Amino acid sequence: MLEDTIARLFAPPKGILAMDGSPATLDKRLAARGIEATEANRRRYRELLLTTPDIERYISGAIFHEETLRQTLSDGTPFAEAARARGILVGLKVDQGLAPSPFNPKEEVTRGLGGLRERLQEAKQRWGIRFAKWRGVYRIDLEEGLPTPEDIFIDSVELAQYARVCVEEGIVPMVEPEVLMDGVHSIEESARVHREVWSEVVTQLTAREVPLSTVILKASMVVAGSEFPGGPASSQTVAVETVSALTDTLPPELGGVAFLSGGQTSEYATANLNEIAKRGPHQWPVSFSFARALHAPVMERWGGNDAFWEEAQEVFLHRAQMAALARLGRYSEQCERVPENPECAV
Ligand code: 13P
Repeated sequence: MLEDTIARLFAPPKGILAMDGSPATLDKRLAARGIEATEANRRRYRELLLTTPDIERYISGAIFHEETLRQTLSDGTPFAEAARARGILVGLKVDQGLAPSPFNPKEEVTRGLGGLRERLQEAKQRWGIRFAKWRGVYRIDLEEGLPTPEDIFIDSVELAQYARVCVEEGIVPMVEPEVLMDGVHSIEESARVHREVWSEVVTQLTAREVPLSTVILKASMVVAGSEFPGGPASSQTVAVETVSALTDTLPPELGGVAFLSGGQTSEYATANLNEIAKRGPHQWPVSFSFARALHAPVMERWGGNDAFWEEAQEVFLHRAQMAALARLGRYSEQCERVPENPECAV
């Protein structure tokens, strides 16, 4: 059952839509584009995404925030039902955000283990959720010595504890240890931290006897810090660093790897995924689970004005098609510009 969910989520050429931004995060993004930050606008924006015609050609699953489970489309259909009707599996973000670490105020740990089992049971029974995401965050700051070994340990233990509860409840855990791109660090430094983090996550999952074949790793890509003086690395370099760190730290039985975009531009994240795919086949299915790289330009186009509703949906369909091509290793600048070209068909 869990392996079946993973097979559906990774069915080529599809990937997973992350639309689980918390109300606070989504409000910030809406306000930054001059859109009033209200629950009504969060709901409209999510409706725009989920009702995009043909999106199920490229999207196999969608991660919701719990607010979305309670919301409905304009016609009264609950979001979860609308997704399922289109063959899109429903996932839920179950962590409850970040709080300062008790050991080091410069680091953050994730909250949400309390009441987790009951929340999973209810969401599964009521809304049919098939997978659940938990995000741990690791910030690189060489001067401050971050991330500390304690932070890596605590976040990994939490990820493993939540994953264990998910598996016991028949829900696929989507384990997301995000190494942030913010900072001045080099790609080599990012690779070192990713290796430490992924190794510790695997160690803690194994210690809690979580079958790795039932786990999706939602991975950040190994990229240079956004303020690195040398600028971004080439997609070829990102792919070499990412694939070698993954291969060295993850066991072959892992269910799959789905990448987040982490603040990369849409084109850069897509080109990086493409290079990673071209270095395959890998030991695990590899796909995408982007939020910003799939839909930041969608919000930009919509701007809160429904006169641009269809145009915004076209932007979304285009980004999803490009991501799907990239997971097959067939993305190109040519397809970016002329997606109707026969060689860009997915
Ligand atoms: P980004 O692709 O914008 O990083 O979002 C993915 C996600 O789910 C973050 O938790």
